[in-house]
Amino acid sequence: MTDFQVVLMAAGKGTRMRSKRIKVLHHIMGKPMLGHPIDAAFEAGATRVITVLGHDRQQVQAWMETHPHAERIEVAIQQEQLGTAHAVACASTHLAKNPDAITLILSGDVPNIQPETIRAFLADAQHHTLSVMTAKLDDPLRYGRIVRDEHDALAQIVEFADADEAQRQINEINTGIYAVKTTFLLDALETIMNAGANNAQAEYYLTDIAALAARDNQAHAWIIEDDAQTHGVNTRAQLAQAIEVARNRINAHWMAQGVTMLDPSRTYIDAQATLSADVLLYPDVHIEGASHIDEDVEIQSGCMIKDSTVGARTLIKSNCYIDSSSVGQDTNVGPFAHLRPGTQVGNDCKVGNFVEIKKSVLGDGAKASHLTYLGDATVGEKANIGAGTITCNYDGKNKSQTIIEAGAFIGSNSALVAPVTIGEGAYVGAGSTITNDVPSEALGVARSRQRNIDRWKQRKKS
Ligand code: UD1
Ligand code: MG
Repeated sequence: MTDFQVVLMAAGKGTRMRSKRIKVLHHIMGKPMLGHPIDAAFEAGATRVITVLGHDRQQVQAWMETHPHAERIEVAIQQEQLGTAHAVACASTHLAKNPDAITLILSGDVPNIQPETIRAFLADAQHHTLSVMTAKLDDPLRYGRIVRDEHDALAQIVEFADADEAQRQINEINTGIYAVKTTFLLDALETIMNAGANNAQAEYYLTDIAALAARDNQAHAWIIEDDAQTHGVNTRAQLAQAIEVARNRINAHWMAQGVTMLDPSRTYIDAQATLSADVLLYPDVHIEGASHIDEDVEIQSGCMIKDSTVGARTLIKSNCYIDSSSVGQDTNVGPFAHLRPGTQVGNDCKVGNFVEIKKSVLGDGAKASHLTYLGDATVGEKANIGAGTITCNYDGKNKSQTIIEAGAFIGSNSALVAPVTIGEGAYVGAGSTITNDVPSEALGVARSRQRNIDRWKQRKKS
């Protein structure tokens, strides 16, 4: 296949989304909408992607700078949105640098196009000056209509707003995806811009390129079977549909890799997340960001796992929230545990119900089974943290460290006032408020002694 370069139109504000945020930055499975076609294009072999941006492009550019192919993403600016032909014309100088390439035109608001589709489309497009990807829809909505001539060849594209009744009956539509010989594209854009915006929407239509190519019998329509890949997003309802398409595709992929989902329609895995074989997911599990779930992990209902890793054979019971953390192998977490950013739980650990951990390390075999807060703490191997233990890490101004060394035993309902160290194998008596270090193997007790008052009941009555 010859080289291909991509123009991605993404300058529209997306008024129908009714949002402060521009349309192409709305997320689909953890990735900005326009990131999906950009990634599909690179995966299909694009040499460069020229994005046409308008409103609020700073945020889009900030995202693009973090892209692994950032050096191959260029920006063309369209100050005023005068239509799709004008949008592509704004990228002309970029395109002209590579006149022998085929130019693939994609839209930032058509997120579900797949790399294999792009490859198949381009393989066919080698033989034509212009190829338009079309779809046959039961309900063609307000998409541009594909008008064919008496030989069934593509004659022109008529926008819904300009179409007469008969044309509106046509159910073959323009997906807004085109592959064009670059020299022809540059000439055609000039012709369209010079002709003026003489149509119902007073816009420069890229779709007019079809009639120009048809004059020399050079216009070709390529029908996609799986039309869900080409649905555009103009409204929140269409955004929800596009998310569903992306989610189902991601779930099908992981099921094919050996993941069990008790209810795939209620399983949410971001585009960047990865899972190993024999993971078992209950309904309403969300795996977000660049998370990785290793083999034989079971995650029960209602868990949110974000930018985190979970080691092999670990069990995450219902309703846990795990953010920017790592959990080791053969560990039990939850139900109702909260792991906040910077938490590293080791292997063979237990983090039980109503345990919150922040920016702390739990060594292998450590246990915090019930009702505990550990913040800015280092917990050694096999240490046991009793129910109701609190690390008092904040004095209103500064955060301080708590160190609990290997094999230490913290009795229930203890407050450890940081900075403080509990030595290796040391004990803390239940109900203590510990403000000084406890040496290794010692017992630290800090509570008032119990006093029993004899015959209290009789004395109270008198
Ligand atoms: C366009 C097509 C229509 C097709 C549909 C498929 C035209 C004239 N019509 O209509 O035939 O069926 O896509 O989804 O091309 N954009 C810019 N600058 C502009 C205008 C648009 O960058 O000045 C971008 C938008 O951000 C969007 C894309 O181009 O990503 C398509 O524009 P949109 O206004 O959504 O066109 P449609 O009405 O959907
Ligand atoms: Mg659109």
